[in-house]
Amino acid sequence: MVDAPDLYGLIGHPVAHSRSPLIHRLFAAQTGQDMSYVLLDADPAEFDDVVADFRNRGGKGLNVTVPHKEAAFRLSGPRTERARMAGAVNTLAWQDGDLLGDNTDGAGLVRDLQTNLGIRLEDATILVAGAGGAASGIIGPLLDCGAGCIVIANRTPERADTLVARFRSCPQLQSAPFPEVRGDFDLIINATSASLSGQVPPVPDTAVGPTTFCYDLMYSKDPTAFLAWAVARGARDSADGLGMLVEQAAESFLVWRGIRPATAPVLDEVRRSLS
Ligand code: ATR
Repeated sequence: MVDAPDLYGLIGHPVAHSRSPLIHRLFAAQTGQDMSYVLLDADPAEFDDVVADFRNRGGKGLNVTVPHKEAAFRLSGPRTERARMAGAVNTLAWQDGDLLGDNTDGAGLVRDLQTNLGIRLEDATILVAGAGGAASGIIGPLLDCGAGCIVIANRTPERADTLVARFRSCPQLQSAPFPEVRGDFDLIINATSASLSGQVPPVPDTAVGPTTFCYDLMYSKDPTAFLAWAVARGARDSADGLGMLVEQAAESFLVWRGIRPATAPVLDEVRRSLS
């Protein structure tokens, strides 16, 4: 009898339009891994049961997306240091009877910025717009890269203060309400969900200068509202979060299979699939 392929998947709500099955199919083909990847749409109330059922079907690992990353954090153990820092898990792997909780989002972003886009993070001045789940996963990895200064600005300023407080005694990190953000930045990262509704977070125009690179964690076929806004204000260049999506997936693939796939051809193909 032929063995069934190893089973992986993505759990979220909604997940129907996810590019992750395509990405992992391309990674598996490229690296010769025998695996399948399914989509699991689960209501928050059903999360634990759907994960348990997937495990009973022989599942070996899961990617986790909105709104389940905190639930996956609670369910998993042991957890990696980067998952602890983020307070959220986007990658689950059953290993020797344990459910490992990892977070590859920040590593995916850093790899896209540094390796794919050639952005220097060491000593960089960075503005992060947003202080929700997406923002909390990227602050630690940006600090680890030696960022010179990270300012977190959020529509609800208290959430930015709370996020900064989690990284106590880190002199490179500060919060500021949007109207009080001063100076132009090397890098502005939109970690709000504003692009989902075609909106732009209230980043002051003065934050963008001719040397500013603007990055949106969201992606779409056309430039997001934030990236269009940034280019209109003379930003040096911009990129959306599709590269981060592919890179975080490659990092998850590495956790699961012990092999790092090449991402450039996969990113090209996933970009083509958007149009
Ligand atoms: P996610 O996991 O995608 O980060 P979240 O935790 O709900 O989702 O956080 C959404 C983030 O986008 C928050 O920082 C939110 O700001 P508030 O904390 O003030 O709600 C931000 N956000 C969403 N829509 C926005 C908009 N139109 N303008 C500015 N910020 C927005």
